[in-house]
Amino acid sequence: AGTRTLSIIKPDATRRNLTGEINARLEKAGFRIIAQKRLRMDRAMAEKFYDVHKERSFFNDLCAFMSSDPIVVQVLECPGAVLRYRDIMGATNPANAQEGTIRKDFAESIEANSVHGSDSDENAAREISFFFSEMEIVG
Ligand code: CMP
Repeated sequence: AGTRTLSIIKPDATRRNLTGEINARLEKAGFRIIAQKRLRMDRAMAEKFYDVHKERSFFNDLCAFMSSDPIVVQVLECPGAVLRYRDIMGATNPANAQEGTIRKDFAESIEANSVHGSDSDENAAREISFFFSEMEIVG
């Protein structure tokens, strides 16, 4: 039970074989992984997913990076999932992330920051339906 958030294990993390280690942290933190798949986004798909950032200076690099290798997308469930995940992810820029957070421990840079998590319940719903049908989500 609880609420849902969309998580992405990014190419820098799948490249370094960190999927299992990140999943162990998620489960220890109280999340249930109620949907999960590995895929590789093409450039157009990355541009669509990150459409809200299309005017930002980092948009092109971000879309190139996110389509550079496989990602693992997942639906996480726990009470207050969006905020709880943001807590254990740490700050976008790993240089600013707290000790013990996923980004502090694993991220390579502000771009290659290992994981993505939705920033609001509204965006969680949009991002979950971007990758998953209801049939693929088993709570
Ligand atoms: P994410 O949570 O996936 O949302 C947008 C992503 O853009 C962010 O994580 C980073 O990977 C990437 N990014 C690259 N540069 C910046 C920046 N200067 N500010 C914010 N996000 C950035």
